[in-house]
This record gives sequence, C-alpha cells and structure tokens, in this order.
Amino acid sequence: MEKQFDILVVGELNVDLILDEIKSFPEIGTEILADKMNLSLGSSSAIFASNISVLGSKTAFAGMMGEDSFGQLVLSSLSSKNVDTRFITQDKTKKTGATIALNYGEERAMVTFPGAMKDYSVNDIPAEAFKLARHLHLSSPFLQDMMKKDIVQLFKIAKEAGMTTSLDVQWDPEEKWDIDFEALLPFVDVFLPNQNELLAISKMTSVERALKFFTGLCKVVVAKLGSEGSVISENGAVKFFRPFLNNNVVDAIGAGDSFNSGFLHAMLKGKDLDSCMEMGNLMGAINTTASGGTGAFTSKDEIKERAIQFFNKKIQF
Ligand SMILES: Nc1ncnc2c1ncn2[C@@H]1O[C@H](COP(=O)(O)OP(=O)(O)O)[C@@H](O)[C@H]1O
Ligand SMILES: [Mg+2]
Repeated sequence: MEKQFDILVVGELNVDLILDEIKSFPEIGTEILADKMNLSLGSSSAIFASNISVLGSKTAFAGMMGEDSFGQLVLSSLSSKNVDTRFITQDKTKKTGATIALNYGEERAMVTFPGAMKDYSVNDIPAEAFKLARHLHLSSPFLQDMMKKDIVQLFKIAKEAGMTTSLDVQWDPEEKWDIDFEALLPFVDVFLPNQNELLAISKMTSVERALKFFTGLCKVVVAKLGSEGSVISENGAVKFFRPFLNNNVVDAIGAGDSFNSGFLHAMLKGKDLDSCMEMGNLMGAINTTASGGTGAFTSKDEIKERAIQFFNKKIQF
C-alpha cells in the first residue's frame, strides 16, 4: 500500500525569541536595548521537519504544545512549509516552550523553558501515525523526559509497523546520557549524532574508536564533524566525506538538522549511502549560508540557487 507520508518526525516544539545587536549583557536590576528582534520557529526537530519537507519528502509531525500564541506560530510555520500537523496535540493545561537568545557579538546566552515537550510520551502518538508513514525520525530525546523513558518502545512500535527509523540524539543538557543505547540501537536503522555526542555516549576519545563501539549495535552510524564534513560507518566499514567548505559562515544553527534532512531525503528516494552523505554535507553547508536553521531553505529553487552560487554544485531532488 502506498503510504501517505514519507516521514513521521517525533520531537520537541518551541519558538526562538532572538534579541540581536545588544550593546552589553544585562545586569540584574538594569535594562538595556536590542536593535534587532526575531521571533521564529525553534527546536531542532521542527527545523529538520521544515527542511526535509521543502526538499520534497511528504512529512508529518507528532509532538505536543500549549494552546497559546507561541503554539499558533509553530503550527503556521510548519504548515507554511507543507508539514502535516494533524498529529500535533495542543494541551490547554500546558505552555508551548520558548528559548530566549541574547546575541552579543560572537557570544550568546540562552534561556529555555521546555514547556509541553517534557510531557509528551509514546502513548500520545496516535496509532494511525505509524501506519501512514514509511519512516520514523526522532530528535532531541534528552529534552523530552517522557519520550526518553519510552524510547525503546517507540522504536519497537515503528519497526513492528514496518517503518525504517533514524535518531539524532542532540546534546544532553544534564550530560547523563541515560538512554539504554544497547537496547535501543538494534531498532535504529540510521544513528545520526554529531562528533561531541558520539564521543560522549561511547566514552571514547577518537571518532574511529567510537564508531567501532557502535558496530554490531546499529547498521549505519553517521557522525557530523562540523567544518570537517562527516563520516559513515556501515557495519564497521568507515568512510569520511569532505565538506562543501563555507569560509563565510553566517551561523551554524541547525546545520546538523539540515544535514539530516539532506541525508534522509536522499535515503527515502532510494539513493545509495554515498549519495546520501554528499546530500547531507551539501544541505549542512547550505544551512551555514543564511541565518538560523531554516533561513536558506525557503523553497527548492532557493536551495538549488545557493548550491550553485556558494558551492558550484548542481542538485537534483
Ligand atoms: N563551515 C562549514 N562549511 C561547510 N559545511 C559545514 C560547516 N559547518 C558545518 N557544516 C556541515 O553541517 C554538518 C552538521 O554540522 P555539525 O555542526 O557537525 O552538526 P550539529 O549542528 O548537529 O552540531 C556537517 O557535517 C557539515 O556537513
Ligand atoms: Mg545536532
């Protein structure tokens, strides 16, 4: 049976309020001015969902928010990128999370209120969601307390429904890394940490050793190496991929999520793993040519133009 969605994204939802061009950091009891302000869709999972949808994968999102104006902004931003929001729960008793970021030159300070995302559990995902999509992607389990507890169950359900699966852990703010990866990874087809996360989870000091640690647990491990590109281990066979280097990075917010969107879009199109890695690196690089995680990804045409303009690369979706 033809599935309605290529991918179901399970994850956290929040907004980002970014205050820019402030003259100094505020001190307790004082007030300062920012010359620029931007309120936009935040959260790694939502950035990923937006970008893979713009690339052309049919995308649905499952998550939880409050019934408030921040929640409205999240819904309208996702809908404007064609992400299906029918599996997003709005709970009157909860608030949509927010991150306030203060940018001061190259430095930034952030405060996050997680809101409803903390309480979202596998039991809140409608059974239909697993039936209608070919692939499950989960991001940021360490920001989702309830989902983290049931993470093995979530991936088992997806596998039982015949889905392929992927996981991007993102950083654990508590640095406990308290997920049973040995139980979980056999149900994960593609594991997508960045270098710091890979080393922290495996407790290894080199990428090669860390990749070896995961061999046998998970068939495909892809580690993102920032401006060094990325590396893949397929059943222990390791291959590095050079980046499409951008020496004029605007910012790298969401680069890993954009990498994931390129890699998984190519995979869901049936491309070989080398092509998926190249597409991941290219989308990560394009991400760094505009501000924020979705700035460079407003349409397919814009992505194509940026690929030519910055990296002299012609892409087919
Ligand atoms: N300066 C850069 N030039 C080109 N590509 C980059 C640059 N920085 C990051 N990337 C691309 O973005 C991907 C993800 O970036 P990374 O910072 O490793 O992930 P995360 O955002 O998860 O920490 C990298 O694997 C690479 O492909
Ligand atoms: Mg990341």
